[in-house]
Amino acid sequence: MKVACLAFSVVAILSATVPSFAADPAAGKTVFGKCALCHTIDPAKKNIGPTLFGVVGRHSASIEGYAYSPAMKAADKTWDEATLDVYLTKPQAFVPGTKMTFAGLPNADDRANLIAYLATLK
Ligand code: HEC
Repeated sequence: MKVACLAFSVVAILSATVPSFAADPAAGKTVFGKCALCHTIDPAKKNIGPTLFGVVGRHSASIEGYAYSPAMKAADKTWDEATLDVYLTKPQAFVPGTKMTFAGLPNADDRANLIAYLATLK
């Protein structure tokens, strides 16, 4: 009985300290399956799109040797978490004319998890 009580208290304390939603990089890796069609996470390899290795904190259109669209070259963004969240919601709306033909991720949890995963690629 005492052991069960103690276990319950530990769970209660732990769940009290964890925020109601914490971005989950492991779940984000699954979401990345949608990006993997066009993006690698290998620093040296591009695909249809530029590598996403180290993308969090990177300036837009900064991968040398990748043929960005004029729209992306002119975008002048820093891909921090907040900017990526807006971009990935609807890429064509945030960078009109981008050649990233991806409709976007409407689910905020998917975006948060994915961005948490991208942040591990450095
Ligand atoms: C159909 C192919 C395709 C898919 C799917 C795709 N992208 Fe892209 N992505 C591109 C292309 C092409 C570009 C270059 C855009 C340009 O130059 O206008 C790009 C550019 C980007 C950039 C800007 C990179 C830079 O160096 O400035 C980010 C960030 C990005 N994609 C993230 C993602 C993420 C995250 C996903 C998955 C949710 C995704 N993309 C899915 C094709 C794709």
